[in-house]
Amino acid sequence: MLADKYFDVSQEVVLITGASGQLGGEYVRSFLERGACVAGLDLYLSSKNKKFEEEYPDNYLYCNSDVTSKVSLQQTLNKITDAFGVPTVLVNNAAIDSPPSSPPEENGPFEEYPEASWDKVIDVNLKGVYLCCQVFGAAMAEAGKGSIINVASTYGAVAPDQNLYEYRRQQGEVFFKPVAYSASKSGIFNLSRYLAVYWAKKNVRVNSLTIAGVFNNQDDGFLDAYCKRIPIGRMAKADEYSGSVLFLASPASTYMTGSNLVIDGGWTAI
Ligand SMILES: NC(=O)c1ccc[n+]([C@@H]2O[C@H](COP(=O)([O-])OP(=O)(O)OC[C@H]3O[C@@H](n4cnc5c(N)ncnc54)[C@H](O)[C@@H]3O)[C@@H](O)[C@H]2O)c1
Repeated sequence: MLADKYFDVSQEVVLITGASGQLGGEYVRSFLERGACVAGLDLYLSSKNKKFEEEYPDNYLYCNSDVTSKVSLQQTLNKITDAFGVPTVLVNNAAIDSPPSSPPEENGPFEEYPEASWDKVIDVNLKGVYLCCQVFGAAMAEAGKGSIINVASTYGAVAPDQNLYEYRRQQGEVFFKPVAYSASKSGIFNLSRYLAVYWAKKNVRVNSLTIAGVFNNQDDGFLDAYCKRIPIGRMAKADEYSGSVLFLASPASTYMTGSNLVIDGGWTAI
């Protein structure tokens, strides 16, 4: 059988931020199963990731770190380099959003959206990606090899569809999908393009990955509205983006940089 020259990631050192979250854990698993060394960065160690430490003691390293702290990221780089070598793949996946259960002012009218919430979301979702690129991307550029995957969102590519939340307003709530997440994710596109051009000759590729909503036991009103709006008629399963992350990390995409890969069930097609 032909060795898989396109999707072999077994020699890669992969750093995934937000590794303890719903999608981060899926990305960690898919790289570990394919023989890569994986560093999972997060503010806390999830029970799922504890299992990775047990199952893959030689290939998995948990790094307790905060993407908004450059000092903490530099310590993480040293830790990963000591264990596995300089990262060759960086998946900037950590982010925060205002969940529908947030306090009313978070999901209220734009005119009253709190400045502190704006700062917090932009800090993690945009500044955090910039800092990770600065620390880990710089090490990749120096080593002459790397692929950076910056996770964006349909809500950064187009405005959130406020009609999805009409069912809540009909129940008497004041509810709007807030602005900061959307603004932070749209910033990911040009941060990625900027760095793709900046590091092109250093053999560090930088792409964004735009994804749509993932099923996570959302309430029926939301699910109904979302599934009616999205052409494919359902939310994504948690493992449905792992293939695209593998693609962007692997030799299959060596000529791709400064691009945006859209895996969104057709959300942005209409
Ligand atoms: N789940 C979706 O429906 C969806 C849709 C579109 C885009 N996305 C994007 O996909 C990515 C992953 O989403 P998810 O649903 O797995 O989110 P999640 O909330 O399950 O996981 C995010 C992880 O990031 C970590 N994190 C938060 N702040 C951090 C910080 N300062 N430093 C380090 N880690 C930090 C959290 O602890 C958490 O484990 C995010 O970028 C998100 O915006 C998700």
